[in-house]
Amino acid sequence: MSESALQRAPGRGRFITFEGGEGTGKSTQIKKLASRLSAAKLRILVTREPGGSPGAEIMRYLVLSGMGKLLGPEAETLLFAAARDDHVRTVIEPALKQGTWVLCDRFADSTRAYQGSLGSVPAGLINAMQRVTIGDLKPDLTIILDLPVEIGLQRAAARRGSGTPDRFEGENLKFHEGLRDAYRKIAAEEPARCVLIDANSDPDTVAGRVWAAVRDRLLPTPASVVSA
Ligand code: TYD
Repeated sequence: MSESALQRAPGRGRFITFEGGEGTGKSTQIKKLASRLSAAKLRILVTREPGGSPGAEIMRYLVLSGMGKLLGPEAETLLFAAARDDHVRTVIEPALKQGTWVLCDRFADSTRAYQGSLGSVPAGLINAMQRVTIGDLKPDLTIILDLPVEIGLQRAAARRGSGTPDRFEGENLKFHEGLRDAYRKIAAEEPARCVLIDANSDPDTVAGRVWAAVRDRLLPTPASVVSA
């Protein structure tokens, strides 16, 4: 968030989204950032998409089970949008208004990358849905975790164990390479909001990079909180 935006909404929480391909370590990094910000006496809400509210969790089940795929890319995108609408209205906006910092595992950039760049859903449709679901709400900071595809997929497979891959994990290598490119493009197009972070290191090293981005961009008086 720019300095002027911070001044416009002094009591409002900050909205940080985490994005990246499969196995890039988003949930690990969100947990680490949440505990560091909590130690700095900030109120934190960790949430995720698709899901994050009771209504959106139902939609999550539909899309990740592959049912959305049967309906075609546009309809699947509408399911993600419907889930986001409920999540923003019932969870994210109320929390931000109360001054809580919201850390969200995936948000609108996932739709742009997965459904837009890879699913070939026209940008016009994605933008229109975005206007309806999130309106003016824009993350103050988006952390994009970047990792070679093979490593991410290996991590995702190790995490899954003997379970079957979900709707998107099951896509081929070309899909995941395209996904990485799509996220890099988003980061390059919106440098004021996005930070591309090299996630090919141990979790604590990556957490240090994430923290540096949050401190530099969102914490006006870093000296008062870095002792976390
Ligand atoms: P999840 O199990 O949360 O995966 P990850 O740990 O990789 O975040 O599954 C979410 C999946 O849904 C993931 O493959 C990305 C996909 N997705 C979209 O395709 N579009 C969207 O708008 C969102 C939010 C997620």
